[in-house]
Amino acid sequence: MDKRHWQETPLSLEYGNIIQHFVFEKEGTSETDPEGAILRYIDRFAHGTLEPGVSTRTEQNEQTQTVFFVSSGEGILGCNHEKRRIAEGDGILIPPGVAHSFSNEGSEPLHLLSAKEAAPNGPSTGNQDAIIRNYRDSELLTSHWHYLVHPIFGEADGLISMRDVLVVRLDPMTTGDNHGHGPNMDEVWYMWQGQCVHVVSREVCVQRQGTAVSVCPSDPGHSLINHTDQPAYLFYFCSKDLNT
Ligand SMILES: [Fe+2]
Repeated sequence: MDKRHWQETPLSLEYGNIIQHFVFEKEGTSETDPEGAILRYIDRFAHGTLEPGVSTRTEQNEQTQTVFFVSSGEGILGCNHEKRRIAEGDGILIPPGVAHSFSNEGSEPLHLLSAKEAAPNGPSTGNQDAIIRNYRDSELLTSHWHYLVHPIFGEADGLISMRDVLVVRLDPMTTGDNHGHGPNMDEVWYMWQGQCVHVVSREVCVQRQGTAVSVCPSDPGHSLINHTDQPAYLFYFCSKDLNT
């Protein structure tokens, strides 16, 4: 099982002022993979903090697409000469080539999860502006028995190697069915609020708030079990399954 709490990972600075912890990275990008370099198709999953009163520099990357998720706090996204408010529960899709910056004008830290994917074709096709969408605004779906799924972004929004970005709720004393994934995709579950037991292959862990678990490959399968008396909320993303 590949499992990491963001606070236990190395930090660096991104965008000048975002205190960034790299939770999972793509394998095989350096001669010796660092701990956490386990993703196959998605480039990086990170946890970032922007302190109150702090702004970032403007970033523009022609060959990268990034999905952010505001796990707590609020702030301002600067994009295409506009300022747009972002708040807890918002997903933010930044297409390749779109210049953007963040500022935190509130009194609490702004926490931003991010999943980054390569955009080898650059900005020539697809979105020319950021998309902001709160997970609460989508229609609720059920999946794998008891997972209550809030879709945020999908392939129709221009995801490239990623397939789905979701928030999943699991109510107390419920579980998802045990299903497996091969090595031909990435699937990452980040415990946003609450905690669960996560069974992956033959290993079992208590997945606490702030911990990310990668479940590919998982044979014979994986399942989340909410053994607590509070609902659990997870931020989820996966890549396309290249065998289907
Ligand atoms: Fe799964």
